Amino acid sequence: MHPPLVELHLHIEGTLEPELIFDLAARNKVTLPYADLADLKSRYAFTDLQSFLNLYYANMAVLLTEQDFTDLTRAYLRRASAAGVRHAEIFVDPQAHTVRGVPLAACINGVAAALRTSESDFGLSSALIVTFLRDRPAAEAFDMLTELVAMNAPIVGIGLDSAEVGHPPVDFIEVFDLAHAHGLKCVAHAGEEGPPEYVWQAVQLLEVSRVDHGIRSLEDPLLVDYLVQHNIPLTVCPLSNVRLRVVDTLADHPLPAMLERGLTVTINSDDPAYFGGYIDDNFTAITDAFALSADQLATLATNAIHAAFITDARRAELL
Ligand code: HPA
Ligand code: ZN
Repeated sequence: MHPPLVELHLHIEGTLEPELIFDLAARNKVTLPYADLADLKSRYAFTDLQSFLNLYYANMAVLLTEQDFTDLTRAYLRRASAAGVRHAEIFVDPQAHTVRGVPLAACINGVAAALRTSESDFGLSSALIVTFLRDRPAAEAFDMLTELVAMNAPIVGIGLDSAEVGHPPVDFIEVFDLAHAHGLKCVAHAGEEGPPEYVWQAVQLLEVSRVDHGIRSLEDPLLVDYLVQHNIPLTVCPLSNVRLRVVDTLADHPLPAMLERGLTVTINSDDPAYFGGYIDDNFTAITDAFALSADQLATLATNAIHAAFITDARRAELL
């Protein structure tokens, strides 16, 4: 058996399962543009990141109250616990909710309420990372971060997600400078659909301590050397990469090459309700596709424990 699982790349809105979408729509009297569950489920064939994001944002229409965010988060924690996850760092996209008129506090407090009792309820520790939408103005992210700091939001760090190409990390330097100044951890999606140059910017200009996805880094040998030398972990999401056509098939995934090059790779689920599986499903899929050895699986699990934003005492418990 490998060490306990740690999840470092998980969008809480990406755990919104079709059944919960219908339940919350009924509770909140939201009319869905789908005839029924089967109709909704027929729309999960994505061609690229944007085609997924369109459905991901549309389905958020059912998330309105603090309770909705708590219920969503509890459902994820229950599923993660069953998968053997012992620590989870969870992304939330507040701008995707505030633009619809949902108060920032309802979103943050709703998720935080579930995370506060994750240990006693589900046996896993947790932390919250606010991700900013790179296809919206950086000034909006800056203002929201200022507000989050003022309300003393229980967040461990910030990240950057949404449509990558055309929205380089360099645009968000001021936001990340502010986060660093407040002692927040910093991560960013880069090198998913975007070029290696975006990964360079994330590590050198935003000074992130982890890169989310980062699989296109392999196209730039000097970048790979840099990531290895600086021991910067990559939170890789294999099933996501297949479903968003970043790779053709799982067999084409660069995971073995990444391990071979000595990169600190971790395995994560990204948006499990949309991409065909949770972290355990991702581990099963890569084990089957690449006949990974017990040692390789243990390395992947241990990498995540080392990459987590936790105390040394908690790290020692997990190792
Ligand atoms: N990439 C970018 N933005 C996202 C993703 C992703 O995989 N999932 C949710 N928002
Ligand atoms: Zn992601």
